[in-house]
Amino acid sequence: MRLLIGVTGGIAAYKALELVRLATRAGHQVRVIQTPTSERFVGTAAFAAITGAPVLASEFEADPARGGYPGDAAADWVPISHLALVERADVYLIAPASANTLAKLAVGIADNLVTTAALAADCPLLLAPAMNNRMFLHPATQANVATLRARGVCVLEPASGALASRGEAGIGRLPEPAELLAAVETAHRETDSSWEGLRVLVSAGGTREPIDPVRYIGNHSSGRMGYAVAAAARRRGAQVTLLSANVTLPTPAGAEVIRVGTAAEMLVAAERVFPAADVLVMTAAVADFRPARPAAHKLKKTTVPLTEIALEPTTDILARLASQRRPGQTLVGFAAEHGAGAVAYGADKLERKGLDLVVVNDVSRSDIGFDSAENEVTLITATGAETVTKASKAAIAETILDTIVALRRGTAPAAPAVLSAGVADGGPGGVA
Ligand code: CTP
Repeated sequence: MRLLIGVTGGIAAYKALELVRLATRAGHQVRVIQTPTSERFVGTAAFAAITGAPVLASEFEADPARGGYPGDAAADWVPISHLALVERADVYLIAPASANTLAKLAVGIADNLVTTAALAADCPLLLAPAMNNRMFLHPATQANVATLRARGVCVLEPASGALASRGEAGIGRLPEPAELLAAVETAHRETDSSWEGLRVLVSAGGTREPIDPVRYIGNHSSGRMGYAVAAAARRRGAQVTLLSANVTLPTPAGAEVIRVGTAAEMLVAAERVFPAADVLVMTAAVADFRPARPAAHKLKKTTVPLTEIALEPTTDILARLASQRRPGQTLVGFAAEHGAGAVAYGADKLERKGLDLVVVNDVSRSDIGFDSAENEVTLITATGAETVTKASKAAIAETILDTIVALRRGTAPAAPAVLSAGVADGGPGGVA
């Protein structure tokens, strides 16, 4: 997401540094603009160092990045700074928003870069007021907040607690940076129409390869990650087909579900649906091998020693689909890896299978991944790797979709390059 952050004068401006750090680390393209008063609290150099982009504090200042966000190609003309920055923004957040700024915005005064950009914004505008409690509760401020909310501006509720002035406590604290980022990401999703009409194919669960009519070779995948991706894509307006292998979870509302049992069944269904899909997300743990000659009747334990069950490789569905891809399709694979080298191995898989994104999770940890409600993953694209710290599978699904949006726009954030792989084998890929 292209996120424009306006910083106004207040002691809480220091917390905006942490917000900018979190947003940048989450892969968002961040630009910061400041009011002259805010520079008394935090200088532009600090924000510039974190975002890797120039920080403007005056509407008369030329933007060295010509309205571009980190990762954007520079315009070949000199745009009007406050208009270009807000025009390209997906969300504009002013944090902290001082009482003075709230008052100015309520009546439409545009006397600095932050307020001018707000007047020109047609993306979601979020304000995070932070001030002394008496200032926040003053009828004038309350009336301004009500006016702004009535106009569709999202004015976040300040937190309560100790305030800047010694011994004072009450409402008026800037919410924690992580909460601000979550509010921004929610606002962005609610207005993100890039998924409307997109056809998304998601595989989920784990295949079961029969040994005989009652026994199979399977894995612990619960299907939660794939179902979370399917549900998130549906919420964003996509048409979702879910290839579901042995999953007992409730079907995400509005998704079409095709139930399969084995890798071979999944391959047939995937090849049928894939040509029309815009996005493929293969979360399923597909067996790499299957019994070559499953018995027609239940085997007696005395008849066959286990060493005699011959296995044959299954088709790598993802690699097969990747070899048939057409322009405009985005392919995402998962990699369940063990401990050290997981990221390098995932990077190798990205290249080997011809994918746009590989989501790696470390299956050596029992608190995440397979059959657990939470996950911690590393997202690997051609431009780098980014770790998403432990979070619910629903939250991870949203981050995966955000990365797909960036890839489809050609704005996937550049991150430190990933080393090439050199790692030994793994079990069935995919995740819970
Ligand atoms: N996958 C697939 N078809 C298979 C096996 C895996 O489509 N027969 C997909 C999984 O859904 C997952 C990714 O491929 O998205 C996992 O890669 P995989 O090749 O299974 O990982 P490893 O087995 O660890 O890799 P390798 O091929 O090197 O054995």
